[in-house]
Amino acid sequence: MASPQQRVCVTGGGGFIASWLVKLLLSRGYAVHATLRDPCTYLSILSSPILLLTLGDAKNAHLMQLDKARENLHLFKADVLDCKTLTPAVEGCRGVFHLATPVPEDKIIDPEASLCSLDNLADVVVHKVVVMSSNAAVTSNPNWPQDRPKDESCWSDKEFCKENEDWYSVAKLVAEQEAFEYADENGLNVVTLCPPYVFGPLLQSTVNTSSKLLIYIIKGGHDVMTNRLWDIVDVRDVVDALLLLYEKNESSGRYICSPNHIFTRDLVDLLKKMYPKYNYVDNIVDTGHKAASLSCQKLRDLGWEPRKLEETLSDSIESYENAGLLQDVAGNPCRLPPLIRMWL
Ligand SMILES: NC(=O)c1ccc[n+]([C@@H]2O[C@H](COP(=O)([O-])OP(=O)(O)OC[C@H]3O[C@@H](n4cnc5c(N)ncnc54)[C@H](OP(=O)(O)O)[C@@H]3O)[C@@H](O)[C@H]2O)c1
Repeated sequence: MASPQQRVCVTGGGGFIASWLVKLLLSRGYAVHATLRDPCTYLSILSSPILLLTLGDAKNAHLMQLDKARENLHLFKADVLDCKTLTPAVEGCRGVFHLATPVPEDKIIDPEASLCSLDNLADVVVHKVVVMSSNAAVTSNPNWPQDRPKDESCWSDKEFCKENEDWYSVAKLVAEQEAFEYADENGLNVVTLCPPYVFGPLLQSTVNTSSKLLIYIIKGGHDVMTNRLWDIVDVRDVVDALLLLYEKNESSGRYICSPNHIFTRDLVDLLKKMYPKYNYVDNIVDTGHKAASLSCQKLRDLGWEPRKLEETLSDSIESYENAGLLQDVAGNPCRLPPLIRMWL
């Protein structure tokens, strides 16, 4: 049994990134309270070995299959849009990793309604809250000088994002700013991580939005892509960064974690060299897209060492192959997720 000193809560515990975080925390001896919106299917699985057979592929079933899950993983039902529901999961925890966010496939009609509030956490959490933000809260700033790498002092411009109906960026930006305001007002230790596109092997049985993007690039389809610069990080490096921020006493403020930058065509060429058998997207148009590079020096200074892009790509493809995600399905052409189509 992990000691109370090592008890932490992970919100949205069944998601792509959160599943890797839960795995890492369990492997390091932490006891984990993971919140799910609907753990019921899973809880009935636990109480019935017969259901284990019939519901073995249920959405969050992978969590209890992780090493040490039986002893140290506890599942709680919570919806982060109703912060009161988080309290039972957070009680008794020294820290919180706040990852749950509605990741929309389409427009968020009301960005304020998709905020994940930290209310109540200051009364319960004694050590630190690590909030998952995004590059979306960093990069959409037309006033940043083109020749200067974007660092943690760069914030997306809310009005610019609103004009472009980029509601995901608005939601991530406002959530991150509010987290810091709440921290200041309530004496809570909050740090944030701002990852770009996260790729890597899947632990969960569903496919999240960023993985759908890579699957589309590999399989190809009718959607046109621009030859834009993609910032990419491996999911395993993201969760290493989250734990580093939690464990290092000196971590503070926000952290960019964008180690790889590559244009669409170069990414396709690299993938083709590694796995020539796939179709790949071939409808790529030039737009003269230029983006200032991002500096993750602040995170590297804490000791973060991300892996190479080639490893991320090959492990992703292997995982998609094992899950049958790269096979064609008759009558169901591969599409870019709507949210990503909007950013091209
Ligand atoms: N993947 C990326 O490229 C990327 C890049 C930058 C930042 N991020 C951030 O990383 C976090 C995780 O993203 P992901 O890629 O792992 O996506 P994901 O697999 O879709 O995970 C999102 C999680 O949030 C949960 N969730 C959604 N709405 C919720 C609500 N109202 N209450 C409680 N839980 C809710 C989902 O639970 P259900 O299973 O119940 O739907 C799911 O577990 C998000 O904060 C996202 O903004 C991701």
